[in-house]
Amino acid sequence: MNNVIRTFPTVIVAVVALASAVVCAGCGRPSARGTALRPSQVHDFAQLFQQNCVGCHGAEGKLGPAPPLNDSLFLTIAPPNELRRVINEGRHGTMMPAFAREQGGPLTPLQVEVLVEGMLRWNRVVPDAAALPTYLALPEQYPAPPDHAAGEKLFAAHCGECHGVRGEGGSGGALRVPAFLALVSDQALRRIVITGRPDLGMPNYCDRARNDGDLQPLTSGEINAIVALLARWREEAQTAPAAAQAMR
Ligand code: HEC
Ligand code: HEC
Repeated sequence: MNNVIRTFPTVIVAVVALASAVVCAGCGRPSARGTALRPSQVHDFAQLFQQNCVGCHGAEGKLGPAPPLNDSLFLTIAPPNELRRVINEGRHGTMMPAFAREQGGPLTPLQVEVLVEGMLRWNRVVPDAAALPTYLALPEQYPAPPDHAAGEKLFAAHCGECHGVRGEGGSGGALRVPAFLALVSDQALRRIVITGRPDLGMPNYCDRARNDGDLQPLTSGEINAIVALLARWREEAQTAPAAAQAMR
């Protein structure tokens, strides 16, 4: 997988196929004692994760089509409340579904808690959390309107080598791809820039600074500027057909 354009449709198909598999998984499985355990009575992390999440996030929370969850840097920066909220409510406009019963999903509050705690136990390293960029974008770090010129410079310096200086593609694939950007939230983009994709060979926010004296680790504000640029590419793609229509 080295080209987002090429791999994304496959990802979507995989996600849809696996999502439907998830819906029917685990109904009426016999328990250890041989009596059927109702889905709402399952409180084992491995089983809950297997039945509800692996289809998209991968076995062990890695290498699925959706962002890896079994990633220590991610688990260090993500506030447990946000994990809870995303599982309960899903991410609007993306493939991440709402799992809370009150949102029409299958899981009880206790089951969501088991999932959050189980994921947090995957965290193996505890880096110096105070020095890390924040998982959520802090509004005070956003210049309004966003500084796209700064975003473009940062992108070229920190991402260009693998994704092309304008996102047009390289060894890490193209990012200026409407079909990709339309399905990924700004929050997920921010998170990917911070944690990288160690499973796929993408460096995290500070890996490259370690090897290149000219680069500093990306700060929270710089990450915002890069995400704002990707968000603008997404908007441009969405408004381009409308603009073409209006010109006729
Ligand atoms: C050293 C190379 C390298 C650099 C530098 C790099 N990336 Fe990546 N990136 C990758 C690779 C490899 C992948 C995985 C591509 C694949 O196999 O789908 C990737 C994937 C991604 C993805 C898609 C992730 C997903 O879960 O599907 C995004 C978004 C992304 N990169 C953004 C960025 C941004 C923004 C920067 C700069 C801050 C950056 N990358 C810097 C190599 C790199
Ligand atoms: C149908 C596919 C699908 C299923 C099933 C699914 N997810 Fe997700 N999940 C996604 C996608 C796609 C994203 C990234 C959404 C975005 O762009 O913000 C995501 C994001 C997340 C995030 C936030 C990650 C981040 O980078 O900020 C968490 C936490 C999460 N999912 C947990 C779970 C858990 C726990 C389960 C099982 C109960 C689950 N997901 C099941 C597709 C799925």
